[in-house]
Amino acid sequence: MALGFNRRRQEEAPAYEDAVLVRGLRKDFGDFAAVDGIDFSVRRGEIFGFLGPNGSGKTTTIRMLCGVIDPTGGSAEVLGYDVARDSERVKQRIGYMSQKFSLFEELTVDENLRFYAGIYGLSDEKFAERRAYVLKMADLEGREGEFTKNLSVGWKQRLALGCATIHEPELLFLDEPTSGVDPIARRQFWELLYDLASRGVTLFVTTHYMDEAAHCHRLAFMYEGRLIAEGAPAEVRALMKDTILELSVSDVDAALSALEDVPGVEPYLNGALLHVNVGLRAEREVDLPALLAAAGVRTESVTQVEPSLEDVFVHLVSAERAARG
Ligand SMILES: Nc1ncnc2c1ncn2[C@@H]1O[C@H](COP(=O)(O)OP(=O)(O)OP(=O)(O)O)[C@@H](O)[C@H]1O
Ligand SMILES: [Mg+2]
Repeated sequence: MALGFNRRRQEEAPAYEDAVLVRGLRKDFGDFAAVDGIDFSVRRGEIFGFLGPNGSGKTTTIRMLCGVIDPTGGSAEVLGYDVARDSERVKQRIGYMSQKFSLFEELTVDENLRFYAGIYGLSDEKFAERRAYVLKMADLEGREGEFTKNLSVGWKQRLALGCATIHEPELLFLDEPTSGVDPIARRQFWELLYDLASRGVTLFVTTHYMDEAAHCHRLAFMYEGRLIAEGAPAEVRALMKDTILELSVSDVDAALSALEDVPGVEPYLNGALLHVNVGLRAEREVDLPALLAAAGVRTESVTQVEPSLEDVFVHLVSAERAARG
Protein backbone atom coordinates (compact mmCIF):
# COMPACT_ATOMS: atom_id res chain seq x y z
CA MET A 1 0.00 0.00 0.00
CA ALA A 2 2.60 2.46 1.11
CA LEU A 3 4.78 1.90 -1.94
CA GLY A 4 1.82 2.15 -4.28
CA PHE A 5 0.92 5.47 -2.75
CA ASN A 6 4.45 6.77 -3.20
CA ARG A 7 4.61 5.69 -6.80
CA ARG A 8 1.32 7.36 -7.61
CA ARG A 9 2.57 10.49 -5.92
CA GLN A 10 5.71 10.56 -8.06
CA GLU A 11 3.80 10.11 -11.29
CA GLU A 12 1.58 13.06 -10.49
CA ALA A 13 4.33 15.36 -9.26
CA PRO A 14 4.35 18.56 -11.31
CA ALA A 15 7.53 20.03 -12.77
CA TYR A 16 8.67 23.14 -10.96
CA GLU A 17 11.42 25.75 -11.19
CA ASP A 18 11.30 27.30 -7.74
CA ALA A 19 10.79 25.17 -4.63
CA VAL A 20 8.58 27.95 -3.22
CA LEU A 21 6.85 30.68 -5.21
CA VAL A 22 4.81 33.21 -3.26
CA ARG A 23 2.66 35.96 -4.83
CA GLY A 24 0.73 38.53 -2.81
CA LEU A 25 0.37 36.04 0.05
CA ARG A 26 -1.61 37.26 3.03
CA LYS A 27 -3.14 36.03 6.26
CA ASP A 28 -5.61 38.13 8.20
CA PHE A 29 -6.72 37.23 11.71
CA GLY A 30 -9.87 39.32 12.00
CA ASP A 31 -8.82 42.81 10.96
CA PHE A 32 -5.14 42.18 11.80
CA ALA A 33 -2.85 41.39 8.85
CA ALA A 34 -0.26 38.94 10.23
CA VAL A 35 1.09 38.50 6.67
CA ASP A 36 0.34 41.52 4.57
CA GLY A 37 0.83 40.59 0.91
CA ILE A 38 4.35 39.23 0.36
CA ASP A 39 6.19 38.08 -2.78
CA PHE A 40 9.30 35.93 -2.89
CA SER A 41 10.69 32.72 -4.24
CA VAL A 42 13.01 30.04 -2.92
CA ARG A 43 15.26 28.40 -5.47
CA ARG A 44 15.67 24.69 -5.61
CA GLY A 45 18.54 23.45 -3.45
CA GLU A 46 19.23 26.67 -1.60
CA ILE A 47 19.34 27.46 2.10
CA PHE A 48 16.84 30.27 2.42
CA GLY A 49 16.90 32.31 5.64
CA PHE A 50 13.60 33.84 6.70
CA LEU A 51 14.27 36.54 9.26
CA GLY A 52 12.41 39.15 11.24
CA PRO A 53 11.61 40.30 14.76
CA ASN A 54 9.11 38.48 17.03
CA GLY A 55 5.59 38.66 15.68
CA SER A 56 6.61 39.73 12.18
CA GLY A 57 4.72 36.84 10.52
CA LYS A 58 7.39 34.20 9.91
CA THR A 59 5.61 31.25 11.52
CA THR A 60 2.29 32.27 9.98
CA THR A 61 3.92 32.28 6.54
CA ILE A 62 5.49 28.87 7.13
CA ARG A 63 2.19 27.42 8.32
CA MET A 64 0.56 28.57 5.08
CA LEU A 65 3.38 27.14 2.98
CA CYS A 66 3.10 23.81 4.81
CA GLY A 67 -0.62 23.64 4.11
CA VAL A 68 -1.51 23.84 7.82
CA ILE A 69 -3.57 27.04 7.54
CA ASP A 70 -5.24 28.59 4.50
CA PRO A 71 -4.11 31.93 3.11
CA THR A 72 -6.70 34.72 3.12
CA GLY A 73 -5.26 36.11 -0.12
CA GLY A 74 -2.62 35.72 -2.79
CA SER A 75 -1.12 32.40 -3.77
CA ALA A 76 1.77 30.10 -2.97
CA GLU A 77 3.20 27.18 -4.86
CA VAL A 78 5.31 24.65 -2.99
CA LEU A 79 7.14 22.04 -5.09
CA GLY A 80 4.82 22.99 -7.92
CA TYR A 81 1.61 22.45 -5.91
CA ASP A 82 -0.80 25.19 -5.01
CA VAL A 83 -0.90 25.19 -1.19
CA ALA A 84 -4.59 26.10 -0.98
CA ARG A 85 -5.81 23.51 -3.51
CA ASP A 86 -3.31 20.72 -2.84
CA SER A 87 -2.42 21.01 0.84
CA GLU A 88 -2.46 17.23 1.38
CA ARG A 89 0.09 16.62 -1.38
CA VAL A 90 2.24 19.45 -0.08
CA LYS A 91 2.20 17.98 3.45
CA GLN A 92 3.31 14.57 2.17
CA ARG A 93 6.25 15.95 0.24
CA ILE A 94 7.76 18.45 2.63
CA GLY A 95 9.33 18.19 6.06
CA TYR A 96 8.35 20.63 8.83
CA MET A 97 10.21 21.16 12.06
CA SER A 98 7.88 23.49 13.91
CA GLN A 99 8.88 26.21 16.34
CA LYS A 100 7.59 24.19 19.29
CA PHE A 101 9.34 20.86 18.85
CA SER A 102 6.86 18.41 17.47
CA LEU A 103 8.13 15.47 19.53
CA PHE A 104 6.12 13.37 21.95
CA GLU A 105 7.93 13.72 25.26
CA GLU A 106 6.33 10.58 26.73
CA LEU A 107 7.44 8.40 23.80
CA THR A 108 10.90 6.94 23.31
CA VAL A 109 13.26 8.01 20.53
CA ASP A 110 12.30 4.95 18.53
CA GLU A 111 8.56 5.47 19.05
CA ASN A 112 8.79 9.07 17.85
CA LEU A 113 10.56 7.94 14.67
CA ARG A 114 7.95 5.21 14.12
CA PHE A 115 5.13 7.69 14.59
CA TYR A 116 6.44 10.00 11.85
CA ALA A 117 7.27 7.11 9.56
CA GLY A 118 3.64 6.02 9.98
CA ILE A 119 2.30 9.45 9.02
CA TYR A 120 4.29 9.36 5.79
CA GLY A 121 3.39 5.76 5.00
CA LEU A 122 6.94 4.36 4.92
CA SER A 123 7.25 0.64 4.24
CA ASP A 124 8.93 -1.47 6.97
CA GLU A 125 12.00 -1.85 4.80
CA LYS A 126 12.29 1.86 4.08
CA PHE A 127 11.71 2.66 7.75
CA ALA A 128 14.53 0.35 8.85
CA GLU A 129 16.88 2.08 6.41
CA ARG A 130 15.82 5.61 7.40
CA ARG A 131 15.81 4.81 11.11
CA ALA A 132 19.42 3.64 10.94
CA TYR A 133 20.38 6.75 8.98
CA VAL A 134 18.62 9.15 11.36
CA LEU A 135 19.99 7.54 14.54
CA LYS A 136 23.50 7.88 13.15
CA MET A 137 22.95 11.41 11.86
CA ALA A 138 21.47 12.56 15.18
CA ASP A 139 24.15 10.77 17.21
CA LEU A 140 21.36 8.83 18.96
CA GLU A 141 22.60 5.29 18.38
CA GLY A 142 22.22 3.39 21.65
CA ARG A 143 19.53 5.80 22.88
CA GLU A 144 16.62 4.35 20.89
CA GLY A 145 14.80 3.27 24.04
CA GLU A 146 15.25 6.50 26.00
CA PHE A 147 12.27 8.65 26.79
CA THR A 148 12.38 11.81 24.74
CA LYS A 149 11.73 13.96 27.82
CA ASN A 150 15.08 12.80 29.24
CA LEU A 151 17.13 13.95 26.23
CA SER A 152 19.14 17.19 26.27
CA VAL A 153 17.82 20.05 24.11
CA GLY A 154 20.53 19.44 21.51
CA TRP A 155 19.55 15.79 21.17
CA LYS A 156 15.85 16.60 21.03
CA GLN A 157 16.54 19.07 18.27
CA ARG A 158 18.43 16.50 16.22
CA LEU A 159 15.71 13.92 16.83
CA ALA A 160 13.12 16.47 15.67
CA LEU A 161 15.20 16.98 12.52
CA GLY A 162 15.30 13.21 12.06
CA CYS A 163 11.52 12.95 12.41
CA ALA A 164 10.99 15.82 9.97
CA THR A 165 13.22 14.14 7.37
CA ILE A 166 12.28 10.48 7.94
CA HIS A 167 10.52 10.41 4.54
CA GLU A 168 13.42 12.14 2.69
CA PRO A 169 11.54 15.32 1.74
CA GLU A 170 12.85 17.54 -1.07
CA LEU A 171 12.02 20.65 0.92
CA LEU A 172 12.38 21.17 4.64
CA PHE A 173 10.88 24.00 6.70
CA LEU A 174 12.69 24.69 9.96
CA ASP A 175 11.12 27.25 12.28
CA GLU A 176 13.75 28.53 14.72
CA PRO A 177 15.31 25.09 15.00
CA THR A 178 18.20 26.28 17.16
CA SER A 179 16.50 28.56 19.68
CA GLY A 180 17.61 27.74 23.20
CA VAL A 181 20.48 25.56 22.03
CA ASP A 182 24.09 26.14 23.09
CA PRO A 183 26.62 27.41 20.52
CA ILE A 184 28.36 24.06 20.03
CA ALA A 185 25.10 22.19 19.48
CA ARG A 186 24.01 24.98 17.11
CA ARG A 187 27.14 24.52 15.05
CA GLN A 188 26.67 20.74 14.97
CA PHE A 189 23.07 21.26 13.89
CA TRP A 190 24.14 23.52 11.03
CA GLU A 191 26.60 20.87 9.88
CA LEU A 192 23.59 18.58 9.51
CA LEU A 193 21.75 21.25 7.53
CA TYR A 194 24.71 21.72 5.19
CA ASP A 195 24.83 18.00 4.70
CA LEU A 196 21.15 17.94 3.73
CA ALA A 197 21.70 20.89 1.38
CA SER A 198 24.63 19.12 -0.26
CA ARG A 199 22.23 16.26 -1.03
CA GLY A 200 19.98 18.67 -2.88
CA VAL A 201 17.38 19.30 -0.15
CA THR A 202 15.97 22.84 -0.18
CA LEU A 203 16.01 24.37 3.29
CA PHE A 204 13.72 27.16 4.47
CA VAL A 205 14.89 28.23 7.89
CA THR A 206 13.96 30.96 10.34
CA THR A 207 16.43 32.17 12.92
CA HIS A 208 17.17 35.12 15.18
CA TYR A 209 20.90 34.34 15.10
CA MET A 210 22.75 36.53 12.62
CA ASP A 211 25.72 34.17 12.40
CA GLU A 212 23.27 31.57 11.06
CA ALA A 213 21.70 34.10 8.69
CA ALA A 214 25.14 34.82 7.25
CA HIS A 215 25.42 31.13 6.35
CA CYS A 216 22.27 31.10 4.21
CA HIS A 217 22.46 31.44 0.44
CA ARG A 218 19.66 33.98 0.40
CA LEU A 219 17.70 35.93 2.98
CA ALA A 220 14.33 37.58 3.29
CA PHE A 221 13.58 39.91 6.16
CA MET A 222 10.03 40.38 7.47
CA TYR A 223 8.74 43.29 9.49
CA GLU A 224 5.11 43.61 10.62
CA GLY A 225 3.82 41.25 7.98
CA ARG A 226 5.78 42.65 5.04
CA LEU A 227 9.10 41.82 3.42
CA ILE A 228 11.48 44.74 3.77
CA ALA A 229 14.71 43.25 2.37
CA GLU A 230 15.75 40.30 0.28
CA GLY A 231 18.96 38.98 -1.26
CA ALA A 232 22.20 37.13 -0.61
CA PRO A 233 23.84 38.14 2.70
CA ALA A 234 26.40 40.29 0.86
CA GLU A 235 23.64 41.99 -1.15
CA VAL A 236 21.66 42.71 1.99
CA ARG A 237 24.74 44.17 3.67
CA ALA A 238 25.31 46.39 0.64
CA LEU A 239 21.82 47.88 1.06
CA MET A 240 23.20 50.10 3.79
CA LYS A 241 25.90 52.71 3.23
CA ASP A 242 25.80 54.19 6.75
CA THR A 243 28.80 54.46 9.01
CA ILE A 244 28.67 52.17 12.07
CA LEU A 245 30.82 53.01 15.07
CA GLU A 246 31.50 50.47 17.78
CA LEU A 247 32.16 51.85 21.22
CA SER A 248 33.41 50.42 24.45
CA VAL A 249 32.08 52.64 27.25
CA SER A 250 32.04 52.76 31.05
CA ASP A 251 28.22 52.48 31.27
CA VAL A 252 26.28 51.15 28.28
CA ASP A 253 22.80 51.97 29.63
CA ALA A 254 23.75 55.54 30.43
CA ALA A 255 25.35 55.84 26.97
CA LEU A 256 22.19 54.59 25.26
CA SER A 257 20.02 57.14 27.06
CA ALA A 258 22.55 59.92 26.46
CA LEU A 259 22.49 59.33 22.69
CA GLU A 260 18.82 58.43 22.36
CA ASP A 261 17.58 61.89 21.41
CA VAL A 262 20.63 63.15 19.52
CA PRO A 263 19.49 63.91 15.94
CA GLY A 264 21.10 61.83 13.19
CA VAL A 265 22.53 59.32 15.65
CA GLU A 266 21.08 55.85 16.21
CA PRO A 267 22.51 53.95 19.20
CA TYR A 268 21.80 50.28 20.01
CA LEU A 269 23.35 47.34 21.77
CA ASN A 270 25.42 44.82 19.87
CA GLY A 271 26.34 42.12 22.36
CA ALA A 272 28.09 43.92 25.20
CA LEU A 273 29.21 46.79 22.97
CA LEU A 274 27.47 49.91 21.86
CA HIS A 275 26.87 50.40 18.14
CA VAL A 276 26.03 53.82 16.81
CA ASN A 277 24.80 54.46 13.29
CA VAL A 278 25.86 57.99 12.36
CA GLY A 279 24.32 57.94 8.89
CA LEU A 280 26.42 58.98 5.93
CA ARG A 281 28.86 60.98 8.03
CA ALA A 282 32.45 59.92 8.62
CA GLU A 283 33.65 59.03 12.11
CA ARG A 284 35.53 62.30 12.59
CA GLU A 285 32.39 64.34 11.86
CA VAL A 286 30.64 63.14 15.01
CA ASP A 287 32.27 63.57 18.39
CA LEU A 288 30.56 60.77 20.30
CA PRO A 289 33.09 60.76 23.20
CA ALA A 290 32.28 64.43 23.86
CA LEU A 291 28.52 63.79 23.77
CA LEU A 292 28.97 60.87 26.17
CA ALA A 293 31.35 62.72 28.47
CA ALA A 294 28.66 65.38 28.93
CA ALA A 295 26.47 62.61 30.37
CA GLY A 296 29.27 61.32 32.62
CA VAL A 297 30.09 58.31 30.43
CA ARG A 298 33.73 57.50 29.68
CA THR A 299 34.58 56.23 26.18
CA GLU A 300 37.30 53.59 26.15
CA SER A 301 37.43 53.06 22.39
CA VAL A 302 35.67 54.01 19.16
CA THR A 303 36.15 51.91 16.03
CA GLN A 304 34.44 52.11 12.68
CA VAL A 305 33.20 48.61 11.79
CA GLU A 306 31.87 46.98 8.63
CA PRO A 307 28.08 46.83 8.99
CA SER A 308 26.96 43.36 10.01
CA LEU A 309 23.60 41.87 9.01
CA GLU A 310 22.33 42.87 12.43
CA ASP A 311 23.38 46.50 11.86
CA VAL A 312 21.57 46.49 8.53
CA PHE A 313 18.37 45.02 9.97
CA VAL A 314 18.32 47.42 12.92
CA HIS A 315 18.62 50.23 10.40
CA LEU A 316 15.96 48.84 8.03
CA VAL A 317 13.50 48.36 10.88
CA SER A 318 13.93 51.90 12.17
CA ALA A 319 13.67 53.32 8.63
CA GLU A 320 10.49 51.29 8.09
CA ARG A 321 9.07 52.39 11.45
CA ALA A 322 9.71 56.02 10.55
CA ALA A 323 8.14 55.55 7.10
CA ARG A 324 5.00 53.92 8.53
CA GLY A 325 4.71 56.49 11.32
N1 LIG B 1 -4.12 32.13 15.24
C1 LIG B 1 -3.85 33.42 15.44
N2 LIG B 1 -4.82 34.31 15.77
C2 LIG B 1 -4.56 35.61 15.94
N3 LIG B 1 -3.35 36.16 15.80
C3 LIG B 1 -2.34 35.36 15.46
C4 LIG B 1 -2.53 33.95 15.27
N4 LIG B 1 -1.33 33.39 14.93
C5 LIG B 1 -0.44 34.41 14.93
N5 LIG B 1 -1.04 35.58 15.25
C6 LIG B 1 -0.39 36.89 15.33
O1 LIG B 1 0.24 37.14 14.10
C7 LIG B 1 1.48 37.83 14.29
C8 LIG B 1 2.60 37.06 13.62
O2 LIG B 1 2.85 35.89 14.37
P1 LIG B 1 3.95 34.83 13.95
O3 LIG B 1 3.86 33.72 14.94
O4 LIG B 1 3.77 34.50 12.54
O5 LIG B 1 5.27 35.66 14.15
P2 LIG B 1 6.80 35.19 14.07
O6 LIG B 1 7.48 36.10 13.10
O7 LIG B 1 6.87 33.74 13.83
O8 LIG B 1 7.34 35.55 15.54
P3 LIG B 1 8.43 34.80 16.49
O9 LIG B 1 9.77 35.27 16.04
O10 LIG B 1 8.09 35.30 17.85
O11 LIG B 1 8.22 33.33 16.34
C9 LIG B 1 1.64 38.00 15.79
O12 LIG B 1 1.19 39.28 16.14
C10 LIG B 1 0.74 36.92 16.35
O13 LIG B 1 0.27 37.29 17.63
MG1 LIG C 1 7.60 32.19 14.89
